[in-house]
Amino acid sequence: MKKIAVLTSGGDAPGMNAVIRAVVRKARFHNVDVVGVYHGYEGLYNGNFELLDIGSVGDIIQRGGTKLYSARFPEFKQDDIQYRAIERMKEEGIEGLVVIGGDGTYRGAMQLTDKGFPCVGIPGTIDNDVPGTEYTIGFDTALNTVVESIDKIRDTATSHENTFVIEVMGRDAGDIALWAGLAAGAESILIPEEAYDLDDIVTRLERGVARGKRHSIIIVAEGVMNGHKLANLLEERTGIKIRTSVLGHIQRGGSPSARDRVLAGRFGARAVELLLENKGGRAVGVKNHAIIDYDLRKAFETKHQADLSLYTLSKELSI
Ligand code: ADP
Ligand code: F6P
Repeated sequence: MKKIAVLTSGGDAPGMNAVIRAVVRKARFHNVDVVGVYHGYEGLYNGNFELLDIGSVGDIIQRGGTKLYSARFPEFKQDDIQYRAIERMKEEGIEGLVVIGGDGTYRGAMQLTDKGFPCVGIPGTIDNDVPGTEYTIGFDTALNTVVESIDKIRDTATSHENTFVIEVMGRDAGDIALWAGLAAGAESILIPEEAYDLDDIVTRLERGVARGKRHSIIIVAEGVMNGHKLANLLEERTGIKIRTSVLGHIQRGGSPSARDRVLAGRFGARAVELLLENKGGRAVGVKNHAIIDYDLRKAFETKHQADLSLYTLSKELSI
């Protein structure tokens, strides 16, 4: 291959820029040109392309968001739109495509590959919910942002002896809630993967109060229920005034952590190698610290499993 393209799609994640940089630099190392596609699959369809030279990806390794922008483009499910996107790439002499995103992005990439255009996927989402890899780009940064926020809330919660419900992102996956809850020492954690038990949360709260605890923190993933609703339910049951904080999109921004940057470099480089080895239809991932690759289909035909041993552990540590 002499020319490949790269795009970011779905929800943005800190570290996507570091991946773009790695793809460009690794490809240039092999004298391969890289075209940046703006606005995800929408830009692919519209031919929103720009040649990315080595300098164009300078000074972005530390920046959150994505230099190539992201877009939701549901029309990309249509065959005719996909064929048009392939034509656009062929007109530019592009022979392979690296996509950075989640399982929806991977579905698009698999369909292009099935239509004869080789694509490789890199997992980029703060939710950590791409099957086949232990970590996705952006998860570590989002986790650190959430933990830092909870620590700050804890300061004021302690000073005023308040109880807080903190709602974090994760519609279907509880990884952010689980890891952040453990890291910040939350009293209770509610995740989409496990049915919650209001009685248990109430017992933990009341037990804490009885032993003179000055504050309590309850973490809820947005996919379980709205944080305000949970606070109301708990207030009704306990009579304790409960405050709510919804962290929202702050979780998706910020400078990527060192860990995400290193992973971005490793993922980006491996993705380029796969294309140069003519291995389309693959996704890169990390398992037991090693970079792996696997069939793209696995990422959307199987379901992500959060590490539920952490859930059990959090219950044991927050007695
Ligand atoms: P994520 O990649 O983070 O899961 P989305 O589910 O929003 O995010 O998907 C990102 C984009 O991927 C969509 O806007 C659409 O352009 C494309 N996409 C999603 N599902 C499919 C599909 N079944 N077929 C083709 N393209 C898809
Ligand atoms: O990127 C994934 C995610 O952050 C989810 O955790 C969250 O539910 C969703 O994106 C929010 O996306 P939007 O920006 O479309 O509200």
